[in-house]
Amino acid sequence: MGTKVLITEPIVDEVISFLKKHHEVDIASRNRFKTEQDVMEVIDQYDALLSMLSVPVTEKVLKAGKKLKIVANHAVGYNNIDVQAATKLGIKVANTPDVLTEATADCAFALLLSVSRRICEAQDFLRDGKFDGWDPLGFLGLELHGKNLGILGMGRIGQAVARRAKGFGMNILYHNRHQLPADQEMDLNAHYLDTMEKLASESNIMSLNCPLTDETHHIINQHILDLLPEGAIIINTARGPVIDEEALAEALHSGKLGGAGIDVFENEPEIHPKMLSAPNAMLTPHIASATRDTRYAIGMLAAQAIHDILSGKPEKSIPNLIN
Ligand code: DGY
Repeated sequence: MGTKVLITEPIVDEVISFLKKHHEVDIASRNRFKTEQDVMEVIDQYDALLSMLSVPVTEKVLKAGKKLKIVANHAVGYNNIDVQAATKLGIKVANTPDVLTEATADCAFALLLSVSRRICEAQDFLRDGKFDGWDPLGFLGLELHGKNLGILGMGRIGQAVARRAKGFGMNILYHNRHQLPADQEMDLNAHYLDTMEKLASESNIMSLNCPLTDETHHIINQHILDLLPEGAIIINTARGPVIDEEALAEALHSGKLGGAGIDVFENEPEIHPKMLSAPNAMLTPHIASATRDTRYAIGMLAAQAIHDILSGKPEKSIPNLIN
């Protein structure tokens, strides 16, 4: 009997065709798999799961996957997967590092530029028929040149954001689990700060580029928001729960923050109503990696790991295995 793969959302056709050449593949319809229960009901039929970040791959799901050999997440972040349980059960887990670094950093920068220059507000003003001629005091924003960009999480994506910021003449500060080697810091012109508090108090703009872990859950909370300079801007292309969304919304409404560019939310796809009404908040539906090239590359990297494991390739030669 052949090997069976479940893909929990429709993905790029070429990736599906690649998997279909070697395996029997079921592709779920859009949003068919939302809960643990949804996956548990069918997972015992499959040798491999190509999961989206929205699918909770919990211990219960993994245990129900009697034949399951690999879960490949269609994302670099894998906070939706219980890797410890998978390891105990002998199930491999893969993610998709590297291929989405540039697209995600582009999106962080798109949000950063849009919010700092109030582009959406200005567009709404014009479309509402309010443009009555050039205004010397209209839509004054935050100039990037010479300002401090605080990057939380200086992995691949954080570094790609730093490279862009360097081109805009920003001062780059960062906080990370580990300090970068001196030559890398010099290359990026980046200065390490050893606490979140120091990063917050010096950042005119803060970009969140860390994974979601127990340590980073709500790392941006009331205390940290209070430390940010008046009018600071927050950009989040990491994971929603890194920020206490209610506290962020309050800080936007009170005018403490100058703006926010938010691509990820605490309870996706729900958005806190106070975020929806917050001034100068640019909100996008988790699209940071959404370019054609990148979504193809993400899909292929996940699919290749599945094929490699199912065809018995040595694990050492599969670069994107996590466990
Ligand atoms: C990821 O890969 O973790 C992104 O959030 C998906 O776009």
